[in-house]
Amino acid sequence: MSHHCKRFCLFFLFFFFLFPLLLPQTSGGVILQYPCKPPKHNHYPFCNKSLSVTSRAHSLISHLTLPEKIQQLSDNATGFPRLGIPDYLWWSESLHGIAINGPGISFKGPISAATGFPQVILSAAAFNRSLWFLIGSAVAVEARAMHNVGQAGLTFWAPNVNVFRDPRWGRGQETAGEDPLLGSDYAVQYVKGLQGGGWGNARRKSVDFGGGSGFGEHRVLGEEDDVLMLSACCKHTMAYDLEKWGNFSRYSFDAVVTEQDLEDTFVPPFRGCVQEGKATCLMCSYNRLNGVPACAREDLLEKARKEWNMKGYITSDCNAVSTISDSEYQGYTKTIEEAVAITLKAGMDINCGSTVALHAKSAIAQGRLQEKDIDRAVFNLFSLQIRLGLFDGDPRQGKFGTLGPKNVCTKEHRRLALEATKQGIVLLKNDNRYLPLSKKDVSSLAIIGPLANNATNIGGDYTGYSCKPESLYDGLKAYAKKTEFAAGCTDVPCVSDDQFDEAVRIAKRADVVVVVAGLDLSQETEDHDRVSLLLPGKQTSLVLSIAAASRKPVILVLTGGGPIDVSFAKADHRISSILWIGYPGEAGAKALAEVIFGDYNPGGRLPMTWYPESFTKVPMNDMNMRANPSRGYPGRTYRFYNGDQVYGFGHGLSYTNYTYSLLSAPTRLNLLGFSTTRKRVLGSQQGGEYVFVEDIPSCDSLKFYVVASVSNAGDVDGSHVLLLFARVPEVVGGTPLKQLVGFERVHTFSGRSTEASILVNPCRHFSIANEGGKRVMALGNHILMLGDLEHTVAIGTR
Ligand SMILES: *[C@@H]1O[C@H](CO)[C@@H](O)[C@H](O)[C@H]1NC(C)=O
Ligand SMILES: *[C@@H]1O[C@H](CO)[C@@H](O)[C@H](O)[C@H]1NC(C)=O
Ligand SMILES: *[C@@H]1O[C@H](CO)[C@@H](O)[C@H](O)[C@H]1NC(C)=O
Ligand SMILES: *[C@@H]1O[C@H](CO)[C@@H](O)[C@H](O)[C@H]1NC(C)=O
Ligand SMILES: *[C@@H]1O[C@H](CO)[C@@H](O)[C@H](O)[C@H]1NC(C)=O
Ligand SMILES: *[C@@H]1O[C@H](CO)[C@@H](O)[C@H](O)[C@H]1NC(C)=O
Repeated sequence: MSHHCKRFCLFFLFFFFLFPLLLPQTSGGVILQYPCKPPKHNHYPFCNKSLSVTSRAHSLISHLTLPEKIQQLSDNATGFPRLGIPDYLWWSESLHGIAINGPGISFKGPISAATGFPQVILSAAAFNRSLWFLIGSAVAVEARAMHNVGQAGLTFWAPNVNVFRDPRWGRGQETAGEDPLLGSDYAVQYVKGLQGGGWGNARRKSVDFGGGSGFGEHRVLGEEDDVLMLSACCKHTMAYDLEKWGNFSRYSFDAVVTEQDLEDTFVPPFRGCVQEGKATCLMCSYNRLNGVPACAREDLLEKARKEWNMKGYITSDCNAVSTISDSEYQGYTKTIEEAVAITLKAGMDINCGSTVALHAKSAIAQGRLQEKDIDRAVFNLFSLQIRLGLFDGDPRQGKFGTLGPKNVCTKEHRRLALEATKQGIVLLKNDNRYLPLSKKDVSSLAIIGPLANNATNIGGDYTGYSCKPESLYDGLKAYAKKTEFAAGCTDVPCVSDDQFDEAVRIAKRADVVVVVAGLDLSQETEDHDRVSLLLPGKQTSLVLSIAAASRKPVILVLTGGGPIDVSFAKADHRISSILWIGYPGEAGAKALAEVIFGDYNPGGRLPMTWYPESFTKVPMNDMNMRANPSRGYPGRTYRFYNGDQVYGFGHGLSYTNYTYSLLSAPTRLNLLGFSTTRKRVLGSQQGGEYVFVEDIPSCDSLKFYVVASVSNAGDVDGSHVLLLFARVPEVVGGTPLKQLVGFERVHTFSGRSTEASILVNPCRHFSIANEGGKRVMALGNHILMLGDLEHTVAIGTR
């Protein structure tokens, strides 16, 4: 995960440059390596598919000495030639397609590219669960295909489910945004897809991932006896969302988080990812949480196993064990052996890096660690490998054995990438319905911007090699009779205006002008947070120069994962339209062109608040979600932030207009069974009453559907996202302004109404955390909000 280079440069140099040369070559007649290979190595009980996973794992452990077991506790797990077991590389990445990060993947071999889906923040903006599931499923197919030709492992460290807490965060782009419910729902679907929940259906439909209709039943895999297609990993637990800002670095940052914020902001996406999505891996983060290194927080790691029932393994982020003892970082323990002992004892099983492999032996000699701790870890690791089929012999003869190069970069996968990008694109502004452009009316088009002609720089971080990279300019060229391009700035940092004149010149003679501005990885990435929310360098001045020169209003296209303060453009009538395209991935060019020219009606909505530049006076290291007026602290995210915003969470226009009417929702719910003494109704300072959610006898009986009708009043069809929020009575301090209860993306037809239903689970959606981090539900009037509609649901005890 890290390019934590101070002392690991050699290690990485090795991974990225030398390692690919060492992978067993499968093309050209060289033989694929795998455990349990006949005729010599297939007789061990751990190779016997009719035995239970547990007994196979114990059988394997019984063959190993203590030093051998210790060698397993690294992402580069050393094999055992005498048992016919090759090395296994645990670390592979697939946030939004197979990525180059991580030594487990090689693009050298029969498969040299993989489908490049848009960066997660843009897919999140689509608010479409089946889309997320299908992307996970497509990535799983490509990963298995790569595995079958020796170019990938089966353990993938995605998704990133940390909440996008601060707009400056360099890795906010990798997440599903700032809302914990959205983050959780995203994780559930992506994990289900990635672990193989769509596989049976996909095969019946000859791997058609484009249509969606064949995926009615999305299975959840992750129980002990499930055959997993891949293993997904929920990262990074917990409260990790700062890279390098001011004097703070992720390697040593101590995130001070209240119990209340932990319960209703930081924990929920992990709970969803593990409990509902059934992810089989959890990654602990670099930072400390309330003083204790995340990988040493037994309470957090145990919660995943005991409360959320995780069947799988826990890995550290890369080198996150050595940073615990290293005085240059945390210096939390005096010795490296102590760091190894506290993390393994806390429940971590594997260390990305070699710290545990190198120092567990001396930790045992010092009496800090016992062999049983090592046995527990290797048992978890082997069990998962067995469930993935790694000890079932030749992968090409297994359940997923038919997958190979023909299943990568398929028409279906690339169509899905295009679909994802189109569904995610957000129309932020569209004065006088300037967009869409009409193909026949545009005589010439000028495309301006440092990123507009770059095909390789629009995937965001954790990207691989795309099937068919195309620049945004390439995409638009296909639509207009005449197109011209000018960069305007040499690159995204845009320190000089030397090239403005040329850009102004082409803008003057064009009929329609599109300016592509915004961010790339030079502004926001791993180990790099932003310090400003404004457009980088002289980009604002470039946009203004073009707006002044252009004959017609300008279309501004914004790239990047983090919000940008474009107040200047929002207010400027010379800029008619603004589109946010995130990091659109390999289909970005076509998707943008289809949106601009009206072949697709945009329906994406922002998954995060766009704050004004003044927000940067809030210290990034202040983890509080809740506003605190007494110290001028504005709070974070739409749930708590009380300041001005450029664009709000959920903002997104379309080429049509939608109106809602409510068809059904209850007006009163009763919590029965509150007469018994154990179940308490509590009062508050504000006078309202509330109950503990754990006291509610049956949460299931309280669930209901909100049924609404959406009518499309415009003259084009479009798919539309309904966002249902709740405002709950203020019975405890720190009650959110509102919170997302549910969402549904529906297809609508011009001039017609469509019905949509959203399931509400009051115990989850109407409850909030109190100051002690316990879930409470207020009695009294809860307000459901859908667009401008409000509906009251009264909750009482009789
Ligand atoms: C696998 O295990 C089953 C059940 O114990 C046993 O009957 C069978 O003989 C074993 N197969 C091999 C090849 O050892
Ligand atoms: C993994 O470790 C083994 C043994 O230490 C070494 O030979 C191999 O090159 C390593 N592989 C990678 C990718 O670092
Ligand atoms: C960073 O540290 C310096 C020196 O200790 C201090 O003056 C400064 O205020 C710190 N900056 C931040 C953002 O905390
Ligand atoms: C695209 O952007 C990347 C990253 O900034 C840069 O290295 C590359 O040279 C650019 N390519 C073109 C064609 O401008
Ligand atoms: C939507 O309605 C608003 C207000 O009535 C109107 O100004 C706007 O032009 C409409 N937009 C579309 C796309 O129909
Ligand atoms: C959600 O995504 C799937 C997969 O791309 C697509 O088939 C479906 O039409 C989308 N739903 C809506 C309402 O856009």
